[in-house]
Amino acid sequence: MPKKPSAEIPYRKPRAITDRLRKQVAEELPEIARIGDTALRQKVTEAWAFALAHSSFTSIRQIPPAGNPDTNEARRGDQTDHLRGVTRLAVAIAAEMGTAYPELAIDMDVIVAGGLVHDVGKAWEFDPVNRKRWKANQRQTGRPSIRHPAFGAHICLTVGLPEEVAHIAMAHSGEGELLVRSLECMIVHQADYTFWNTLLAGGQLKPDTVPPQTRKYITDKPF
Ligand SMILES: [Fe+2]
Repeated sequence: MPKKPSAEIPYRKPRAITDRLRKQVAEELPEIARIGDTALRQKVTEAWAFALAHSSFTSIRQIPPAGNPDTNEARRGDQTDHLRGVTRLAVAIAAEMGTAYPELAIDMDVIVAGGLVHDVGKAWEFDPVNRKRWKANQRQTGRPSIRHPAFGAHICLTVGLPEEVAHIAMAHSGEGELLVRSLECMIVHQADYTFWNTLLAGGQLKPDTVPPQTRKYITDKPF
């Protein structure tokens, strides 16, 4: 058995999930009010309250506006700007495509819920305590031990969100290439990539966080 890391894991020592925290989440993500189904609305709130209470973060605003830790980080804003922007972009795609092709029968509640929780696992992956542990014990834990899509799906299922929404957390990013995305997941995935790629092409990502495969957008050297 390898030596146990001494660092404590915030997930193992959660804070209480209070009505105050739920109210704060609802204020940080006002698009929650756009969800028609009451139970779904409450579970989206619960997912973020659960994620924060099981992390070092006390607010979604403390999570940097980045796609992955230290990668594709916006010059300004915070993670709420990303979640809200992706949700509204996904709603716009769904509205346009749903009007042109009503037979798509897009579930708008799943779009909004999925947009708001697609990155709920970032409370784990971006947690500085976790990142320090992974960096110090990479051989033992992996780095990260679990990426935000898988951890987000875990949170969604834990708080009782439907499978369709957990699937969006699981498959919105690269993991989705390994499976077949649902219609609503494909829309959120496209909205997510549109968000980052628009900032990339517009010079609004911090240059030192742009990964090698897209660095051509931020350099004037020939490629
Ligand atoms: Fe995202």
